[in-house]
Amino acid sequence: MTEEEKLMYDEAKKAFDQAYVPYSKFHVGAAVKTKDGKIFNGCNVENSSYGLTNCAERTAMFKAVSEGYTEFTSILVIGDTVGGCKPCGACRQVMTEFIKKDAPVYLTNTKGEIERYTMEQILPYSFSKEDL
Ligand code: THU
Repeated sequence: MTEEEKLMYDEAKKAFDQAYVPYSKFHVGAAVKTKDGKIFNGCNVENSSYGLTNCAERTAMFKAVSEGYTEFTSILVIGDTVGGCKPCGACRQVMTEFIKKDAPVYLTNTKGEIERYTMEQILPYSFSKEDL
């Protein structure tokens, strides 16, 4: 891992530890980096009405957006998974709103393994504001 990746990994891991997951017990953490270098993290937050669960990636992005940051140069996700933790389809769609096609997406796990993709690779042919 590069120094930048490690910094994001550590932030995402802090959120992973805060995950509110009484139902699935499946912790996820995420961290996004803004274009001026600020890092926001987020965890998954479940609800007794299961469908209202908010994924870690969206928590991190919404925290940043609500603080006035809408352009992210990278995102990192961590889960206790075999290989990197994969973002769900809904999160990928929200990611395309704020992350450019060539920006890196780091999928990691608690063993410290990392898979590197681009936004375009994880959601090709996406619907975006350019289509409106
Ligand atoms: N989850 C995330 O936080 N991010 C994803 O991209 C996939 C799924 C969460 C939602 C739920 O709390 C748990 O993982 C099991 O689906």
